[in-house]
Amino acid sequence: MSSLLLTGIGSLVTNDPAHGGLLGELHDAALVIDGSTVAWVGPRREAPAADSAVDLGGRAVIPGFVDSHSHLVFAGDRAEEFAARMTGTPYSAGGIRTTVAATREATDEQLTANVSRLVAEMRRQGTTTVEIKSGYGLTVADEARALQIARQFTDETTYLGAHVVPADYADDPAGYVSLVTGPMLDAAAKHSKWIDVFVERGAFDADQGRAILQAGIARGLQARVHANQLGEGPGVQLAAEVGAASADHCTYLTDADVDALASSGVVAGLLPAIEFSTRSPYPNARRLLDAGVTVALATDCNPGSGYSSSMPFCIALAVREMHMTPAEALWSATAGGATSLRRPDLGHLTPGTQANLAVLDAPTYLHLAYRPAVPLVTQTFIGGRLV
Ligand code: NIG
Ligand code: FE
Repeated sequence: MSSLLLTGIGSLVTNDPAHGGLLGELHDAALVIDGSTVAWVGPRREAPAADSAVDLGGRAVIPGFVDSHSHLVFAGDRAEEFAARMTGTPYSAGGIRTTVAATREATDEQLTANVSRLVAEMRRQGTTTVEIKSGYGLTVADEARALQIARQFTDETTYLGAHVVPADYADDPAGYVSLVTGPMLDAAAKHSKWIDVFVERGAFDADQGRAILQAGIARGLQARVHANQLGEGPGVQLAAEVGAASADHCTYLTDADVDALASSGVVAGLLPAIEFSTRSPYPNARRLLDAGVTVALATDCNPGSGYSSSMPFCIALAVREMHMTPAEALWSATAGGATSLRRPDLGHLTPGTQANLAVLDAPTYLHLAYRPAVPLVTQTFIGGRLV
């Protein structure tokens, strides 16, 4: 095992409260990577010797982004649907069935290549951990295959057999819930850490969602919920009731929903690239933060409601459109994502943690929102390795 000293770091975001402020930011700093882990962080002048050293010339270093919500296992795209939305056609969950048909037709190799391409795209933009859901197969074999493919890229795999009721079960939604909680769960559970359900008008109601999440929990999976995306509804309350790790979207919330998130500790996953791409109102992040809710930012990268793989884009939207401070947005895109995935080992740069980090061609993380759409990430390290 060899050690590497990164020195000349203009601004180092550690997310370690011991260093002060929300981000534990150090100036004129250094960081030592030993093998796959962070061995030391501190002022440059106190840095210990290492086997090799790189002077970053004043660039910023941040923890790698933890993208806690994505749907990368799919075939085809829905660019025409996006174009129609931009001229006034509203987003509806029904478009999911278009991708289900294309995904079922695709070979394992085609699906794997598409995930590989998107994960590479994410890494180039500083993402070091990504959660990946199934949900475009919606048969026993196609959901199991999606999760096996996702498993090749991440430990954070999510069984989303309950994305929508597929066309072949349109007349028998109860039969589909039985499939999702029975044979499909049997096939999916061994490849999954998480179970998710889309609780929404046109997808699943609270009783169906509860049955699906409880079946998964009984099999050792942990719960996450697609909640309150297209209108107010029972998703957030259900997430709190079953002890889900996160309720994602949270676009339309009542005061009772905000209270439920604050008192239960369920993380609110905000996905602003979706509001961008569906021309919907952005979620009210300030209301959540002021109520003491833990907020994660994630891409929700998928071919329908929003096809961005970029965490920096989400940060820029969160700052400009959702009134998060740049520090809050970066925290939510790193430590917030780690909290959402129940991974206290991720999202911060402290001795002993995995060396997952991004180097920015900028003097401070503020440039992520200040210079939107500029490719500022110059290097991404995962487990101490440049990727
Ligand atoms: O998180 N809302 C449900 N699922 C995805 C969209 C999937 C699609 O449109 O294909 C989402 O936005
Ligand atoms: Fe989603």
